[in-house]
Amino acid sequence: MHREDFDLLKQDIIYFDNGATTLKPHLLAEAISDYYNNYSANAHRGDYDISLKVDENFEKSRFLVSDFIGADSNEIIFTNNATDSLNKIVLGYFSHYLEPEDEVLITTSEHASNVLPWFELAKNKGITVSYIPLDNIHHVTLDNVKKSITKHTKVISLAHITNVIGDVRPLKEIIEFAHMNNILVVVDGAQSVPHMKIDVKDLDIDFLAFSAHKMCGPTGVGVLYGKYELLKKMYPLIVGGGMNGSFEANGDVSYNEPPYFYEAGTPNIAGVIGFGKVIEYLNQIGMDNIHKRELELRNYALHRLKEIDDIIIYNEYSQSGIIAFNYKDIFAQDLAIYLNKYHICVRAGNHCAKILKDEINIKNTCRLSFYFYNTEEEIDKLIEVLKNPNIKKEIF
Ligand code: ALA
Repeated sequence: MHREDFDLLKQDIIYFDNGATTLKPHLLAEAISDYYNNYSANAHRGDYDISLKVDENFEKSRFLVSDFIGADSNEIIFTNNATDSLNKIVLGYFSHYLEPEDEVLITTSEHASNVLPWFELAKNKGITVSYIPLDNIHHVTLDNVKKSITKHTKVISLAHITNVIGDVRPLKEIIEFAHMNNILVVVDGAQSVPHMKIDVKDLDIDFLAFSAHKMCGPTGVGVLYGKYELLKKMYPLIVGGGMNGSFEANGDVSYNEPPYFYEAGTPNIAGVIGFGKVIEYLNQIGMDNIHKRELELRNYALHRLKEIDDIIIYNEYSQSGIIAFNYKDIFAQDLAIYLNKYHICVRAGNHCAKILKDEINIKNTCRLSFYFYNTEEEIDKLIEVLKNPNIKKEIF
């Protein structure tokens, strides 16, 4: 689907590492170069035409992003990436509202970005980080969430889709139950927002983080969504230009309202404008079509991988375009290097989910992560290379 939009696919390359970052359609580079070549003024500061054009396009992107996830546009803060957003949520909001005996619930399959900020808060504030147990296929169930909650639980912080197991968490049910118990829910949407339709109001998400570069957009642009009443109570981690109305020599300051309160300094203007174009592009394709296509690719790949006895699959029952696997007796990274000889790109290692090893009893896996432009033919090529009778000879 839409392969012609991606120049990189004209090279002899099979790209199955979309969980790390996706390829970029040429309209992204065109939008970015249009900004730099034709109207490269600053945002929110000038009273002349090219600056007003920047403001218009920058704010259009904010509107497009808000519409994409069903939020209001003043609930969208542009950050550097999902990691930046999660740090701002944890350190800018929760560090002010959690008390030493409070507890956050996460899982062992979270990405580092949804673990380490909480560890920092545990160290500096004395909160407790506890884990919702996963079931036998490494998924989160509502039942296990219910069993994990204590009178100290104040936050649940979960990936919507995890980046190795690729399980889709039952967010609506979890959030409904959490809210009945006065618990806020933070969602790491890095692996879900690019792949399926999300409606933050319908799901009733309190905070959401995701990155542009995992959905055909530029690197260096992330999104922090928060319910407006929560954003009003958050604190900025960075202060400076663009987020204040006035300040006096005696230290009196009047700050701007969210989202601008959290966007100090000149932002990644070109990236944000490019991201807006990409959102329009994804809307044209349709998020439901993207999700459906990824599941077709997943099912096809699973079916074909099972033809090979030596392949071990770690997440057979997940409903996303992520497949974590190993080849018996071959170290994951060696397999990735072998696949690279055939121009096949996969990620190998622990994928920044470093405590998942306690669940799946292995530290490193190879990961296929699909996007809408992948094809069955590419999967066939992967299988052919994995079926190579000389595979071990070529590796060792
Ligand atoms: N979080 C990204 C991944 O899973 C980098 O590969």
